[in-house]
Amino acid sequence: MSWKGVIEAYRSFLPVTENTPVVTLYEGNTALLPAPRLSERLQVHLYLKFEGQNPTGSFKDRGMTMAVSKAVESGSKAVMCASTGNTSASAAAFAARAGIKCVVLVPNGYIALGKLAQALIHGAEVIAIEGNFDTALRLVRKVTGEHPLTLVNSLNPHRIEGQKTAAFEICDQLGFAPDYLALPVGNAGNITAYWKGFREYASAGRVSGTPKMLGFQAAGAAPIVRGEVVTEPQTVATAIRIGNPASWQKALEALKESQGRIETVTDEEIISAYQLVARTEGLFVEPASAAALAGVIKLAGEGFFPPGSHVVCIMTGHGLKDPDTTLKTCSLKPAVVPPDKNRVLDVLEKLQVL
Ligand code: F0G
Repeated sequence: MSWKGVIEAYRSFLPVTENTPVVTLYEGNTALLPAPRLSERLQVHLYLKFEGQNPTGSFKDRGMTMAVSKAVESGSKAVMCASTGNTSASAAAFAARAGIKCVVLVPNGYIALGKLAQALIHGAEVIAIEGNFDTALRLVRKVTGEHPLTLVNSLNPHRIEGQKTAAFEICDQLGFAPDYLALPVGNAGNITAYWKGFREYASAGRVSGTPKMLGFQAAGAAPIVRGEVVTEPQTVATAIRIGNPASWQKALEALKESQGRIETVTDEEIISAYQLVARTEGLFVEPASAAALAGVIKLAGEGFFPPGSHVVCIMTGHGLKDPDTTLKTCSLKPAVVPPDKNRVLDVLEKLQVL
């Protein structure tokens, strides 16, 4: 049977009826890739859920198919969000698909190039504010509270409903619930969604048990770990450059109920994991996604995981979204040579592949 998106796949778990106009880009059904090299190194069974395979290149599409479908069902003519980039790209694409308007507020200068390009090509009205994500979200909440635009940030419960389908997919792909689920935490919607999904699948008898949730924040943007709002969050992982997460409380509940943990990772650890997963497993993810892997590497180094644990790491977004960071951090550069076979062979000589 061909895949028709997460609403069709998991309809019975979602608040939709036959009257809901399904706005979909056939999101979901992303690969759960075994990571043999990293598994050996870390002494766990590590799997990477590659959410970069979604149509706009991030997990946001799972939530956006629900949020935009429900917005259209309720007669809304426009959606609005604050975003570090991926939510705006996804909202813009789904709004285009639905034929409604989309307005996005982004932190000026702190959104990856690809994400900005996506919002623009899909025809969204992009407002770049001189402030960070937290300020943008505050403004969007005010405007959508007073005017008839539908808020499509993860405060919109339909977003969480859509995003929880990733937990269902992982259970279906593995055949069981993993022992640990690691993911980056920004506004904390996704950790909330995964925990809801795992609990619901277990309650429905589809799997027995639920994973422990492991959240990772960038050291310069770690309000949940530190227990206080960060007024000027900073990190190379701009997607999670957030100092006052909207779903803070729900994240704490997920951590407590699952007996999980939330930790920081430094920008150096993030970039190192970013390069490692690209070179050893062939997966190009964005820096925020690498924060989850950096966290798993850190915990494995502390002997945290019992040997043989099944660990799933969520690779939340595609590396192509942020080519600037790649070029800035990658030590390899193209070898520029004259168009001459011998000059090409000179390069190969050094590589010892002849
Ligand atoms: N990874 C990526 C690639 C993201 O874009 C985000 C959030 C997260 C992780 C964290 O997820 O916020 O649910 O805890 N991006 C939002 C945005 C904030 O505007 O695109 P979260």
